[in-house]
Amino acid sequence: MTAPRHFLDIDRLDGRTLRGILDLAASIKRSLHPNHRKPLLKGRTLAMIFEKPSTRTRVSFEVGMLQLGGHVVILTDEGTQLGRGETFADTARALSRYVDAIMIRTNDHAKLMELAHNATVPVINGLTDHSHPCQLMADIMTYEEHRGSIAGRTVAWSGDTSNVACSWAHAAVRFGFRLRLASPAELRPGPLLAWAAREGGDVSFTTSPHEAVTGADLVVTDTWFSMGVAEGASREQLLAPYRVDEALMALAKPDALFMHCLPAHRDQEVAAGVIDGPQSVVWDEAENRLHAQKGILAWCIGSQAVERRMSVA
Ligand code: CP
Ligand code: NVA
Repeated sequence: MTAPRHFLDIDRLDGRTLRGILDLAASIKRSLHPNHRKPLLKGRTLAMIFEKPSTRTRVSFEVGMLQLGGHVVILTDEGTQLGRGETFADTARALSRYVDAIMIRTNDHAKLMELAHNATVPVINGLTDHSHPCQLMADIMTYEEHRGSIAGRTVAWSGDTSNVACSWAHAAVRFGFRLRLASPAELRPGPLLAWAAREGGDVSFTTSPHEAVTGADLVVTDTWFSMGVAEGASREQLLAPYRVDEALMALAKPDALFMHCLPAHRDQEVAAGVIDGPQSVVWDEAENRLHAQKGILAWCIGSQAVERRMSVA
């Protein structure tokens, strides 16, 4: 039996494969026109496990499966035996007998890996405490729709070095762009920076948001309080200098874009004038979760014949 095509993290796939998934996503997006609609995943089922809340991930995966002719089953800890201690390994073995793929949003990356090691169907990372690769596929797609190839561009991150920042670093290496991470020294992601250096990527860290953003093509941030991180005034004070406001944004190139995975906290990590301003593409970014994930689903579940069909669409 061939190994399932998991979508676990950007760093686990090569650049050519990632580019192929984005091409597939773009092709499916173009085919949204009723005359070109193709039920690529007709009769297929995706199970989605949510250990954390979600708006975009949940709705975009469900709508994406429906648009591709398939359907979804949604599972939570409380409503399943996971909540009573059944292991992720056993859950993976059982679900693999019913569904064609499993998406999981979990508070612990190790659970994603346990699921993937024991599933005989593809497993998709819908966000863990470590990374958020589906978000990055949508983000790269969005940048390139607006500005062309991201290769060789400079992306500045200012804020918490969150799971989304981790996937930005993975993407910088695989898609060939420069990433400048600005965050307090306490939040320096040492192992991630070491990985990027080993891979020959251009990922740097600074405690100065001004240094990171100056001359950037794209400015990105994320909440200061990721799901599972305790609220607290001290963290807010620590991160306050990294807020993306109009003054910081003005240091980027004049045609620079602003992105945020959402949900956003206006006037905490980002000023309302930036996220609601003319450089912000956050709603295109949110929409592209749907399109990028259809590419991921088609790549994971679909056959090579499906990919060939779409590449000539
Ligand atoms: N960006 C993102 O993953 O949003 P949700 O938490 O709403 O799914
Ligand atoms: N870093 C955020 C992303 C939400 C989509 C979190 O983990 O809560």
